[in-house]
Amino acid sequence: MANVVVVGAQWGDEGKGKIVDWLSEQADVVVRFQGGHNAGHTLVIDGITYKLSLLPSGVVRSKLSVIGNGVVLDPRALLDELGRLEALGVKVPPENLRIAENTCLILPLHQELDAMRESGASSTRIGTTKRGIGPAYEDKVGRRAIRLMDLADPASLEHKIERLLSHHNALRRGHGMPEVDGKALYADLCAIAPKVLPYMDSVWLLLDRKRREGKRILFEGAQGSLLDIDHGTYPYVTSSNTVSAQAATGSGLGPSAIGYVLGICKAYTTRVGEGPFPTEQNNETGKRIGERGREFGTVTGRPRRCGWFDAVLVRQTVRLSGIDGLALTKLDVLDGFDELKVCVGYRLDGREIEYLPASEHAQAKAEPIYETIAGWSEVTAGARSWADLPAQAIKYVRRIEELVGCPVALLSTSPEREDTILMRNPFES
Ligand code: GDP
Ligand code: IMO
Ligand code: MG
Repeated sequence: MANVVVVGAQWGDEGKGKIVDWLSEQADVVVRFQGGHNAGHTLVIDGITYKLSLLPSGVVRSKLSVIGNGVVLDPRALLDELGRLEALGVKVPPENLRIAENTCLILPLHQELDAMRESGASSTRIGTTKRGIGPAYEDKVGRRAIRLMDLADPASLEHKIERLLSHHNALRRGHGMPEVDGKALYADLCAIAPKVLPYMDSVWLLLDRKRREGKRILFEGAQGSLLDIDHGTYPYVTSSNTVSAQAATGSGLGPSAIGYVLGICKAYTTRVGEGPFPTEQNNETGKRIGERGREFGTVTGRPRRCGWFDAVLVRQTVRLSGIDGLALTKLDVLDGFDELKVCVGYRLDGREIEYLPASEHAQAKAEPIYETIAGWSEVTAGARSWADLPAQAIKYVRRIEELVGCPVALLSTSPEREDTILMRNPFES
């Protein structure tokens, strides 16, 4: 019986929320281990849409949900999200949501800094979600962050705020931004403390106990492996590690707790924000994919850039995250195309290469080499069994498996929970 880690195998928005919700029926605990409310995970259950950013997608099934230390937590965003879910009839009592005491907080000053940087010259813009994610991780690594547990200790909080502001106010003065008043920040944090502290826990201990009891743990990644701070398309990345190994550090369970890694990827490619995207179709094809796939960001509403499936990139993330099986989503979006293209290599400076080069300059220059595959005119949307798929769609899936060197374990054919085809059960692999 394996614990399963779900990670995005592209640039995010692959459909992780839907798949985690589907898998969570079999799980006892669902854990977020990195990122924050930059994530936007959409679940559609019996026609009702749930949009989750910080909360693990298992909350909708009332599973024990855990936010690990690897996450950066905006307490206001958390309370807002709990309120939105409650309005949809999903109540999350503290016994169902446990948040690591050592989770670093996102404060308004982080969001302001993120927004200020993004409003600068286009050459320095990353296209972030402006949620303060990057600045909050900077403070974590800079050893000056306010952590959840600090809210329980007002006596030392004042000193910690002072330490944090000695850094931020110098930075803000340099940028012509008003300084942050330490006393006001202290008062804000003291006011919010009683609302979030009931969720606080020693998450590493809790997960260790669950593991010993033989409970099934499902780790829910946010973003995608190509947005990883180390392995992604730097600097056009998020500020956390998004590859599967982070499930261990971001939760406090050792890596041996990870049994199976499920990579989620779309049957094509999308990206939000700036950065290289070799198979991008800035043309009618891209528009058609975007319209059919409703490719608008869950968090920011920005249109997503769309393009053909890039097997080179997914082959690379399969290796980076040790992916055992793929969940291929949005196959239905490709219904009705006469032909489909799949990138099988790049041409760079007259040479053919089979991986994404590491440098920003080379990534921008890499030209895709395509293989053309015939499309299908039948409808795959809503298919719930392999037998319901047209032969040509099966060929497309099989070719992807071959090119990326990894089997497809799950196929998704609509946003609805039940429109999912299971080939191999990750928990039983
Ligand atoms: P995540 O960030 O990886 O959880 O993905 P998002 O929720 O941001 O984006 C995926 C979008 O595709 C959501 O609107 C889902 O409802 C939708 N979706 C997921 N799977 C499928 C599918 O198989 N077909 C279609 N048409 N839509 C899907
Ligand atoms: P989910 O979990 C897609 C992108 C942003 C930007 C870069 C840095 O829904 O797949 P950040 O705000 O993290 O500093 O932005 O990362 N990005 C995402 N793109 N899906 C996401 O999450 C993303 N989270 C961040 O667009 O390019
Ligand atoms: Mg998303």
